[in-house]
Amino acid sequence: MQWNSSGFSGLAIQVILHECFFVPYVSTPKNSPHCDFCSRLYLTKKLLRCCFDEVTRRVTDMKGVIFTELFNVVEQSQGANFLDDLIDACDLPSCGAYTSVGTYDFAEMQTLVAELSKRTHIPAAALLEHFGQHLFKRFHALYPNLFAGHDCPLRFLMEVEVVIHKEVLKLYPEAELPSFTTLDHTPNSLTLLYESRRGLAPLALGLIRGCLLHFDTLGTVNMEADPAGFNKAVFTIQLNS
Ligand code: HEM
Repeated sequence: MQWNSSGFSGLAIQVILHECFFVPYVSTPKNSPHCDFCSRLYLTKKLLRCCFDEVTRRVTDMKGVIFTELFNVVEQSQGANFLDDLIDACDLPSCGAYTSVGTYDFAEMQTLVAELSKRTHIPAAALLEHFGQHLFKRFHALYPNLFAGHDCPLRFLMEVEVVIHKEVLKLYPEAELPSFTTLDHTPNSLTLLYESRRGLAPLALGLIRGCLLHFDTLGTVNMEADPAGFNKAVFTIQLNS
């Protein structure tokens, strides 16, 4: 088979043009695939499916580092056998074989947290909050550069939107990150609006609590979630003066 500079054989290019754009074959090479309406329809559906996946990818995928860290925290608190049973019970398409740099279906995270909640009798929101605190410590260990020069939790939190997550996007361009808008700020307090299609406000609560612990700062964190769900929440962080 002959390959041209684009890496496709002449036959492959003809097949793509023919099947996707209905361009007739210029010749009928040996082994050319059978052409009928069904195969065209099948490939057109496949092409549309690829475009649809591309549009929806940013809503449905999640970085592997979040999955691997969830497994770490479950293993540390409940043991390796518990984690194995949890993974088996979830019957995940990926079989739970995550790598920190991979990207996986967010639905798997929802399945894992729901099953974990069932097995531990702890509400999913409380589990996510606990996980968020652990995650903050791990972010510090994994991405120390992002913490360089920081000594104030409020400033750090204000920079999540404009600096930290922007840097995360350079590392993982396909990451889907929440938005944090600063609604109010005084030297001792901060009000942030969290918005995300993933609805992980309790995870953000844990990350914010983890941030105060990391900077060894005493204070309170209040979360006011939108009545419609955890896609939107206002966080008020008040430091002890
Ligand atoms: C150096 C610190 C941080 C790093 C490296 C980091 C990195 C990341 C990464 C890699 C994701 C996964 C994105 C994806 O799966 O597509 C993520 C998601 C998220 N991050 Fe951060 N993050 C940091 C700090 C924070 C802080 C302090 C908060 C809270 C104020 C926060 C809130 C969130 C939330 C809630 C998500 C889940 C996705 C969502 O809700 O839509 N992050 N972050």
